[in-house]
Amino acid sequence: MNIAVLVSGRGTNLQAIIDAVESGYIKANISVVISSQKDALAIQRTREHGIEAIFIDPQDFWKDKEHKEEKRVEYDKKIIAELEKRNVDLVILAGYMLMLSPYFVEKYKNKIMNIHPALLPSFPGVNAQKQALDHGVKYTGATVHFVDSKMDHGPIIIQDIVPVYDDDTEETLSNRILEKEHKIYVEAVKLFVEGKLRVEGRRVKILK
Ligand code: GAR
Repeated sequence: MNIAVLVSGRGTNLQAIIDAVESGYIKANISVVISSQKDALAIQRTREHGIEAIFIDPQDFWKDKEHKEEKRVEYDKKIIAELEKRNVDLVILAGYMLMLSPYFVEKYKNKIMNIHPALLPSFPGVNAQKQALDHGVKYTGATVHFVDSKMDHGPIIIQDIVPVYDDDTEETLSNRILEKEHKIYVEAVKLFVEGKLRVEGRRVKILK
């Protein structure tokens, strides 16, 4: 099975997946990592492991404000061309900060995963950890889900909870959530690779 990972930033979730593949825990191949940011730390991590990393510049496509939707599809088609060249079976979003076009989502239906640092449907979008602190919840967590055309919305694969402490800052809470993210993302990818996920509407069943 061939995996592609889409990134925009530091890539700690990517690193967790690379480590799980290298140790043989996930029996798949990371074919390519594609970044929307030229200097993303994730690119450096990828190359250190001898994996191909490509930067595709969204600015090339988004300068034209009037045709934003068409440009988004054009950008995604460039990514898809790279995926098709490598027969990619699973697309993993790991801190990828662009919305995918409905075209992309439809083409890879139930084959794109995302991780979010909250218990969805609570606190979607940016700064999920700050949203949780500001709301005063006692527990938050992390969610791995399949991607549909709405943000942070598709069928949920795995969630895990994280307590919020009185003295938590955005940083301490984010770090505690991140540890959980790394674990559940690896588990979700492993389940997919082993053919153990079945999507029924919004529900994802885990086969024994
Ligand atoms: C992670 O916390 C991930 O959950 C979040 O971005 C961070 C990326 O970190 N994603 C989202 O908020 C998506 N809505 P990483 O680059 O170290 O994996």
